[in-house]
Amino acid sequence: MRDALGGVQSVLVLGGGSEIARATVRKLVADRCRTVILAGRRPAALEPVAAELRDAGATTVEVVAFDAQDTTSHATVLGDVFDRHPDLDVVLLAFGVLGSQPEFEADPSAAAAAVQANYVGAVSSGLVVADRLRRQGHGQLVVLSSVAGERARRDNFVYGSSKAGLDAFAQGLADSLTGSGVSVVIVRPGFVRTQMTEGMTDAPFATTADAVADDIVAGIRRDAPVVWSPAKLRWVFVVLRHLPRPIWRKVANR
Ligand SMILES: NC(=O)c1ccc[n+]([C@@H]2O[C@H](COP(=O)([O-])OP(=O)(O)OC[C@H]3O[C@@H](n4cnc5c(N)ncnc54)[C@H](OP(=O)(O)O)[C@@H]3O)[C@@H](O)[C@H]2O)c1
Repeated sequence: MRDALGGVQSVLVLGGGSEIARATVRKLVADRCRTVILAGRRPAALEPVAAELRDAGATTVEVVAFDAQDTTSHATVLGDVFDRHPDLDVVLLAFGVLGSQPEFEADPSAAAAAVQANYVGAVSSGLVVADRLRRQGHGQLVVLSSVAGERARRDNFVYGSSKAGLDAFAQGLADSLTGSGVSVVIVRPGFVRTQMTEGMTDAPFATTADAVADDIVAGIRRDAPVVWSPAKLRWVFVVLRHLPRPIWRKVANR
């Protein structure tokens, strides 16, 4: 339950190793969040993150094995977390795979695996979380979408289409939760310099995990339905979404 000042006291992170998620949780802990559950497919790799959060002041930090692709496990794994912590303020759905478009085209099964994580895994875990938050009667599900889902690009349309699906799912889920006390915050970052984009050339309006985390924390505070990061991307995509396709191809694939 939020504290008397509306501060987040507990957070569950799906994809606990995500750089954007880590930066966000660091800020929540600095702002008095005391319970953090980090869920990820490589629990051992999350232990140093857990230690850092304990040092920063979090009093309860747990690491949980969670694989977004293993949808049959989600009800049990996430149900156990909610049984132990029946009063979670925020769930941050941060897992995701960017992958390589040429590799996806050469190996369609790898493309399907990425979509299984980014979209199918998010639908499965998102519905489990929404059900548990609805039963609590409060809470926020923060979903890491992407501007890549706003309009598919030739050079990453597998990833982009998975994010488009995720974004549409999150919008519908938000509508379905109206009046329940639970809300969904959809985050649409542009290019963020993290391990996911390491070695890639910056796209226009490139930003950092820390700056996106600031936008997420502000979005949580004002319970924003959508957070663009940086904010100006909202207006950039108002235009880009409506460009005639031949012009879009030239703009997007330079
Ligand atoms: N970086 C960007 O430019 C950017 C832009 C827009 C949106 N986003 C989105 O923001 C989110 C966080 O991205 P980031 O930049 O923080 O990337 P990141 O540091 O690479 O984090 C992605 C996380 O997803 C986890 N993951 C991947 N597949 C998983 C699975 N099957 N089960 C559980 N966890 C899995 C990874 O775990 P492992 O460590 O085990 O691989 C990693 O911790 C992602 O959803 C991404 O699509 C990123």
